[in-house]
Amino acid sequence: MTALLIDGIGELTTNDASLGEGVGGRLREAAVVIDDGRIAWVGAAAAAPPADERFDAAGRAVLPGWVDSHTHMVFAGDRTAEFEARMAGEAYAAGGINVTVEATRAATDAALAENLARLVAEARRGGTTTLETKTGYGLTVDDEVRSARIAAEQADAVTFLGAHVVPGGQDPRAYLDLVTGPMLDAVAPIVSAVDVFCEAGAFDESASARVLEAAAARGLATRVHGNQLGHGPGVRLAVQHRSLSVDHLGFLDDADVEALAGSWSDGARGTVATVLPACDLSTRMPLAPARRLIDAGAVLAIASNCNPGTSYTSSMGFCVATAVLQMGLSVQEAVRAATLGGAIALGMHEHGWRDPLGQMQPAVGAIRPGARADLQVLEAPSVTHLAYRPGMPLTAAVWRAGARVA
Ligand code: NIG
Repeated sequence: MTALLIDGIGELTTNDASLGEGVGGRLREAAVVIDDGRIAWVGAAAAAPPADERFDAAGRAVLPGWVDSHTHMVFAGDRTAEFEARMAGEAYAAGGINVTVEATRAATDAALAENLARLVAEARRGGTTTLETKTGYGLTVDDEVRSARIAAEQADAVTFLGAHVVPGGQDPRAYLDLVTGPMLDAVAPIVSAVDVFCEAGAFDESASARVLEAAAARGLATRVHGNQLGHGPGVRLAVQHRSLSVDHLGFLDDADVEALAGSWSDGARGTVATVLPACDLSTRMPLAPARRLIDAGAVLAIASNCNPGTSYTSSMGFCVATAVLQMGLSVQEAVRAATLGGAIALGMHEHGWRDPLGQMQPAVGAIRPGARADLQVLEAPSVTHLAYRPGMPLTAAVWRAGARVA
C-alpha cells in the first residue's frame, strides 16, 4: 500500500487527550500519515516520517470525518407540503411517517438504492465518513427486509426501526406481535441494532419495552427515539435497557438528565444522549438541552437525523454550527460530539466492530494510530470557522478508510 503524508496542518483535532490539548486533543503545525486504510502516525509536522505521497494542508484545519449516528435515508417520496404546513403553524405529528411509508412501498429497489446513494454522496461531500441508517418506512416484513438489505450495501450501520409507527389501518397489538416476532427475525441477520419510537402517537412505554426486550433476546443492541414530542418514558427505558443511545431529547426533566449521566458511572458502558439540532429547528420544537447534558456528565452525540419528514439535511457542519450558536456548546464540544460521540453511540469507537457486510473495521471518531483513516480538511484555519461561518461549505477534502472520497 502507498503511505500518504498529510502535513502543513494548521490545527489538528485528534479527539485523543494523549496526543494534544483540550477537549479535541488539538495539535498545531501537525502531520498525519495514512497507510493501509488506517492512521499510521500522528505528531508534529517537523518530526513526520517520510511517505510515498504527500498532501499539503497549507495551514488548514484537519479533523476526524463526521460520524452521523442517526439517519433515516432509505425512503422514497417528498414531504414538502407537510413542511410548508408546519412553517405555516401546524405542529409536527408522527402521522406524516405513513406518507413516506406509502411512497417507499411503491418504489423499486433500484429507486430506493439510488436515492440512498444520492444522500450518502451528499453526506460524504460534507465530511461524513461513517453513517448509520434505519429502516422504518417499509413496515411489512418484505419491505423492512429489503430496506435493511439496501441500507447494508451503503451504510456503516443498519438499525431496524419496524417500531416506527403502527401502519395505517393495522391493529396495534397485532403489529407489535409482528415487529417483535417474524419481522425482527427476518431482519436480524442484516442489522446491528433495533430502535423504537417511544412517543405518544407511536409506541407507548410497555410496547417500547417489548421491542427492546425482543431485541436483547436476539443479542441485538438497542436505541430509542425518546422525548421528542413531549416528556415521556423514552430516556428511562433506554437507560434501563442499556441502550446504546437515546435520541432527540427535546423534553427532559432532571431525572432524565441524571439517568443519562449516571449510566456511565462505575466504568459502565452507558447510554449516549444524541441530540438532533436540525430536526429541532425543522420541527420548531425546543432545542435539546445539550449544554445541560454535558455539564451533568452525559456522553453527547450530535447527528443529522436526515429524513424526509423532520430533518431533510445530511449536513453535520450545519448541526455543529447550530449546537454552538443555539445550544450553548463550545465548537470543540460540538465537533467531539459529532465525531467521537457518534462513534460511541454506534459502538464503533473501539477496534473490531463488524460492518453490515461482515467485515471487521478499526475504530472511528478519532485521529490516532490504528484508527480508520477517516478525516477531513476544512477550508479554514480552525474548527471555530464551522460556527463562525455557518452555512458555508467548508469541507475541502475527505478521506475514508484511507481513500479520497471528496
Ligand atoms: O427521527 N421521530 C421519528 N422518526 C423520524 C421522523 C420520521 C418522519 O417524520 O418521517 C425522526 O424525526
